[in-house]
Amino acid sequence: MIIAIDGPAASGKGTIARQIAAVYGLHHLDTGLLYRAVAKAVLDAGYLPSDVARATAAAAALDPKEFDDNTLKLPAITEAASVVAAVPQVREALMNYQRQFAMRPPGAVLDGRDIGTVIAPGADVKLFVIATPEVRAARRAIELRSRGEAADEREVLADLLRRDERDARRSAAPLKAAPDAHLLDTTHLGIDAAFRAAVDIIEAVRTGRKRS
Ligand code: C5P
Repeated sequence: MIIAIDGPAASGKGTIARQIAAVYGLHHLDTGLLYRAVAKAVLDAGYLPSDVARATAAAAALDPKEFDDNTLKLPAITEAASVVAAVPQVREALMNYQRQFAMRPPGAVLDGRDIGTVIAPGADVKLFVIATPEVRAARRAIELRSRGEAADEREVLADLLRRDERDARRSAAPLKAAPDAHLLDTTHLGIDAAFRAAVDIIEAVRTGRKRS
């Protein structure tokens, strides 16, 4: 079974994806880490994330061992990740790894922006997770503070909106729901309720499949 979970930053998709993978015994890939690792490699080498040739070379040389790096969640990497992610050659270079990951038995949950539309358009279940920008900014601020970073909620909101805009407007695999994705709005849901809502959708799709 392949489950695609897409949505904007801090919508709750990562937490839902991790929990769903654990409960269903599936592999889990946070695909944002790939773009973050590419961004870090480019920045560490002293180049700008908008340097297409450097970003493409970094994507081609990506080592999955780099995904464990704690610094990948730092704000400077977050911003640069959305810049390298707009480069079509970078997305192309990262596609095979994600598709092969999705095919590994017994199946996988992948979360990102283009899983249901580009990486795994044939996924068994597709979720598109959303929440209002204000709620997402509040969640991200709590997360940043829990890691000991300063977080002004207005700045966090502005960063999120800028990144959403860049992700949604780019021509290569923009952030958008697949036509057959199930919308899950977590604005008024805590972690447990969001997880249960996701399970309900997955089970409804599976039951519907068995019947038909
Ligand atoms: O999900 P996360 O916030 O870690 O992703 C960081 C950035 O990577 C996003 O802002 C987006 O630009 C990019 N990304 C993407 N496609 C994915 C996952 C992430 O373009 N499937």
